[in-house]
Amino acid sequence: MQIVYIFAVMTPFTLYVVDDESSITEGIRLALEADYGIRTFADAESALSAIRATPPDLILLDIGLPGISGLDALAEIKKVHPTLPVIMITAYEDVDSVVTAMKQGAYDYIVKPLHMDGLEVTIQNALDSVRLRKEVHLLQARYLEENLPCFIGESRAILDVMEFIETVAKSPDTPILLVGETGTGKELLASSIHYRSPNFKGPLATVNCAAIPRDLIESELFGYEKGAFSGARPSGKKGLIEEAGGGTLFLDEVGDLSLEAQAKMLRFLEEGEFYRVGGTKKLQVATRLVSATNKDIDQMVERNEFRRDLYFRLGVIKVHIPSLNERQDDILLLAKHFLSLFNEKFNRNFTAIASDAEKALLKHKWTGNVRELKNLVERAVLTGRGPELSTRDLGLFDRQSDPYSHTAAGSATLPTITEAGVDITEIEKAMERYYLEEALRIAGGNESKAARLLNLNHHTYRYRRKKLLKS
Ligand SMILES: Nc1ncnc2c1ncn2[C@@H]1O[C@H](COP(=O)(O)OP(=O)(O)OP(=O)(O)O)[C@@H](O)[C@H]1O
Ligand SMILES: [Mg+2]
Repeated sequence: MQIVYIFAVMTPFTLYVVDDESSITEGIRLALEADYGIRTFADAESALSAIRATPPDLILLDIGLPGISGLDALAEIKKVHPTLPVIMITAYEDVDSVVTAMKQGAYDYIVKPLHMDGLEVTIQNALDSVRLRKEVHLLQARYLEENLPCFIGESRAILDVMEFIETVAKSPDTPILLVGETGTGKELLASSIHYRSPNFKGPLATVNCAAIPRDLIESELFGYEKGAFSGARPSGKKGLIEEAGGGTLFLDEVGDLSLEAQAKMLRFLEEGEFYRVGGTKKLQVATRLVSATNKDIDQMVERNEFRRDLYFRLGVIKVHIPSLNERQDDILLLAKHFLSLFNEKFNRNFTAIASDAEKALLKHKWTGNVRELKNLVERAVLTGRGPELSTRDLGLFDRQSDPYSHTAAGSATLPTITEAGVDITEIEKAMERYYLEEALRIAGGNESKAARLLNLNHHTYRYRRKKLLKS
């Protein structure tokens, strides 16, 4: 908050005054130039070109200008800068024009002869709303910087998605459903939506519908009152819906919601109210729902595995995230991004990706999408020799003939211990993450098969993966 305030104080607001009577423009300049940056114009033409070049914070605009009239100038300004406050200056006899101007979006009007005290109050009020908007933008920019890992992409397909998400994020309560293969970035986009929405200062609560045991999903979502069931906390507990009040509730893996939990969710969405488990008080919470799934939800609806009515509620806006194979233009950009990320994290000295490694990356079939690429680069940075990231480091060498070969991973060299030291915990985590994800990829997203490939039971696999993805 502090930084925002300082910014607002240090940057004086700029006012453009447009009037053909120099006594008016000069009078305003004299009265206000100590507090504001003032530029004056005798006609709309010169004012409009200055506004095009550098829009001010507020405009004082005479209605009865020679040439382009004040009303036409107002229409021009509002077309390009709909939120810029324009205060009309008018003579008494111009009542009809004032009404038209207000309808066209003028902020207010002042009547000649001008009373400077009244004018200042009107200006202050208009600028208060500008200041608030500026503060919100700044605060939002800071939140984005601090909370949001960058979503990287420059392919047409992903730019379209990002543009669309930027637009729909602005309405604070429209539910959005993100669909796409595993690892395409749905979770990252869900946080993008939150931090780009008017709810960005509120909480972002995530519920992984696949990870919560069936019998706990209701109390996790809706909370419970004390003594609701054996094992419940004596003080009761807020559910995730309540936790997400004023913010965003992210229902991850929503395709895994049991039919029973779907029914409860639907009731909440239809009525906007719910009870805690064992509670008697109706609760209301305003939150935006973002859901995601890598399952074919349309097919699930057809097979009655997912309720059609809930699907329509959650997917008011449905966004399909293209697979990485469909956005070739992003592969090298992402690979370079992850290279520099892990280079820094593991204190390694990679300078670039070798050109044959680039070719291999472009040729590879990314069934695990961006997550697979990220894991591959992470492991390569850890175990590769450098200074260029090679096909061998990436383990793509042998995959050209056998896409599921593990040999390259086995033959990789681990980082040597130097005076700078290596972080053994991070190395262990990276290796574990790689094998957990690689097994899932090979198993075509089937967790129990992935667990078998690693000689783990399903629960242990799930637990370790969930823990690692969080760290
Ligand atoms: N465009 C991107 N830019 C940077 N990082 C990305 C991008 N897309 C995905 N990632 C990273 O890849 C990993 C997988 O992304 P994420 O968890 O969002 O995928 P998902 O679509 O939710 O997958 P799943 O369906 O398996 O849950 C994360 O570490 C995420 O930060
Ligand atoms: Mg996810």
